[in-house]
Parts: sequence; structure tokens; C-alpha cells
Amino acid sequence: MKVAVMGYGTVGSGVVEVIETHEKSIKNRTAGEMLEVSHILDLRDFPDDPHADLFTKDFNDILNDPETKVVAETMGGVNPAFDFTMKLLEAGKSVVTSNKELVAQKGLELLKAAEKHGVNYLFEASVGGGIPIIRPMAQCLAANNIEGVAGILNGTTNFILTKMIEDGMTFEDALKLAQDNGYAEKDPTADIEGFDACRKVCILASLAFGKHVYPNQVRAEGITKITLEDVEYISSAHGVIKLLGQIKKIDDDKITAFVSPAVVFHGSQLASVNGVFNAILVRGDAVGDVCFYGAGAGKLPTASAVVADMVDCAVHVNRRKNFGWGPGSEDYVVDEKSAL
Ligand code: NDP
Ligand code: HSE
Repeated sequence: MKVAVMGYGTVGSGVVEVIETHEKSIKNRTAGEMLEVSHILDLRDFPDDPHADLFTKDFNDILNDPETKVVAETMGGVNPAFDFTMKLLEAGKSVVTSNKELVAQKGLELLKAAEKHGVNYLFEASVGGGIPIIRPMAQCLAANNIEGVAGILNGTTNFILTKMIEDGMTFEDALKLAQDNGYAEKDPTADIEGFDACRKVCILASLAFGKHVYPNQVRAEGITKITLEDVEYISSAHGVIKLLGQIKKIDDDKITAFVSPAVVFHGSQLASVNGVFNAILVRGDAVGDVCFYGAGAGKLPTASAVVADMVDCAVHVNRRKNFGWGPGSEDYVVDEKSAL
């Protein structure tokens, strides 16, 4: 099956690499069908890249190629990613994405378009990088009433806090290192001010409760006010500071959801989640508590989730996946007052 990649940065280049280096495992899951990259869209030039013949700067090359059935959007941002994704879905192509900003803001619209045109819009990489969380929430926990979700949802800020705690590194140096490692957003304000975690809270809440929660409904505070002195003080009290996203069901029409730094005491599961790792605790009324843990950002972990979605699209060409959030679902009421 021919597939295309839009955005050849950290994640997009990882997607091409994983497709090329994991032929056997992909074939095992597609009953022998290989994913073949037909186009790579990016505005930059990559003179030394071995995929020279695949690069294009014109989106229409992908849109108008009848053989390309699945497209990975790893460009980031709302526009033009939204416009491109909508056009691809309308043209009968499935789209997979790591772009949580787009899913958090326009997920419902795009899921409705996918339903209308009989294709898939999948976003496993949009929360938790390489951690399987979207499918488990939507499918494996489908029988549960979700009561709450709490977790470390941003790799960059967890990396910064860990470096401050363990190595006494300054905030600025730790952020620079996170950027060099490819963890941070293009504008790292989204990471350090809590907006990225906020987008992930919205996606998880929408999945958990079947109604769209938008970023402007969720209060977010980041870690920019945290100093080395704060970190040392909490450490002396046997705790660590973590940036947490939290969601709780209040009643059938109301949830509370927010992002903020919190003190987590040693002995708690989240206290030992360090570096770029994320952990997400989900409480279901039948299953009880479950925890998802792994690399929350980075080239290959994130590409692992994107390519898994591409494989899923290849396997489900004529069958839509239902996330329980999409056509028929409405917007949610988030109780901002109880968000503390
Ligand atoms: P990068 O900035 O490394 O890559 C994005 C690429 O897309 C860049 O090469 C960029 O080019 C290109 N691009 C942007 N706009 C266009 C356009 N209009 N047409 C063609 N190409 C375009 O970002 P990442 O790979 O880090 O992230 C991509 C997405 O994945 C984001 O939504 C991010 O939030 C998400 N994500 C990232 C993770 C990570 O660990 N890095 C983990 C999980 C999700 P240029 O630089 O010239 O703008
Ligand atoms: N910038 C994000 C993070 C990428 O650090 O968690 C993964 O979504």
C-alpha cells in the first residue's frame, strides 16, 4: 500500500525510518502487504537525504495520487494541517497524526469527516508519544465508565524537572537539552506553559466521556515559575514536583479537567516517572486503576505509534474504527470553577 508523510521533521523522518526498517513486523500484521512511501511533503530541502526522489513541496501531489491511500500528518500546528487533512479525508484517504494541537481543537470535525467519507482518522501518537493509550482507552476499556484520568503528559517538562532535581541543572539548560533531543514543540512555550499537556487532557477527556473538550475549557499552568530552590525544598520533604494533567467525572454532564504542577511524594507511582517518560493512570468502574507508562516523546517512540496507525488503516481499508467520540457526540461542559 502506498502511503505519504507530510512534515519530515523529528517525527516524520522517524516514520519513514520505522517503515523502512520494520518491514517484517509490518507485513506480519497486514497479511503480507508492505507500506511503501510514495511522497514526503516538506518545505525544506534535504540535499543529502537518500529519499530525494520522494520529496515534494506541493500538497496536491499527495492529494491527487489515487494510489496513495494513507497519509501521516506530522507537520504540527492547526493550519494548514487542518485544511490538508480535511481535503485528504474528503478524497477518501485515511489520515493518521501525531498533531495533538489539531486533534484537540478540530478532532470532532475531522472524525465526522472521516465517518462521512468512510475512511479513518487515527491519532495514537497524539498523547504519550510511544505509549499505547488512545486504543486502550477507546477499545480495551470500552466497557467501563471512566471515573478519572491523571498523569504526566509532557515529556519535555518532565525531562526538565528531572534534570533540575537529579543534576541541579538550570531550567534554561535543561530546556535546551530537551530541544536538542527533539522532545520539545517547535515553540517550546507550549510545553513549559502547560498548553501541550492541556491539549492531551482534552483528547483523553473527549475519549473518556465521548464529548469534545476544547483547550479553552481547561485551565493550564506550566512550570515556568518553578525554581531550583522549589525543587530542592520539595526534595527535602521527600517529594518531587511533576506537571500533572487531571480529569475527573463529576456527573453525567460535567467533568473537571486541568493541568498544573503538583507535589508528588516518594512511594507514589508517578514520583518515579523520570526524564522524557510519561505515565497515565486511568480509573474505570469495572477495571479499577490501570497505568500506562513509556517514552512520552522522541523520534522513534512517536514514530512507532504513527506507523501502528498506518498499519491499522491498511488493515481496515473498508472498515472504520469507532472511538465513541465523533459523529453524534456533542461538546462537553467543563466545570472550570471546580478545576482546583
Ligand atoms: P518538527 O518541527 O521537527 O517537524 C515538522 C516538519 O513539518 C518540519 O520539517 C516542518 O518544516 C514541516 N512543515 C511544517 N509546516 C509545513 C507545511 N505547511 N508544508 C510542509 N511541511 C511543513 O516537529 P516534530 O516532528 O517534533 O512534531 C511534529 C508533530 O508531532 C507536532 O504536531 C508535534 O506536536 C507532534 N509530536 C511530536 C513529538 C516529538 O517527540 N517531537 C511527539 C509526539 C507528537 P519547517 O521546519 O520548515 O517548518
Ligand atoms: N513536546 C511534547 C512533549 C512531544 O514533550 O511531550 C510529545 O507529545
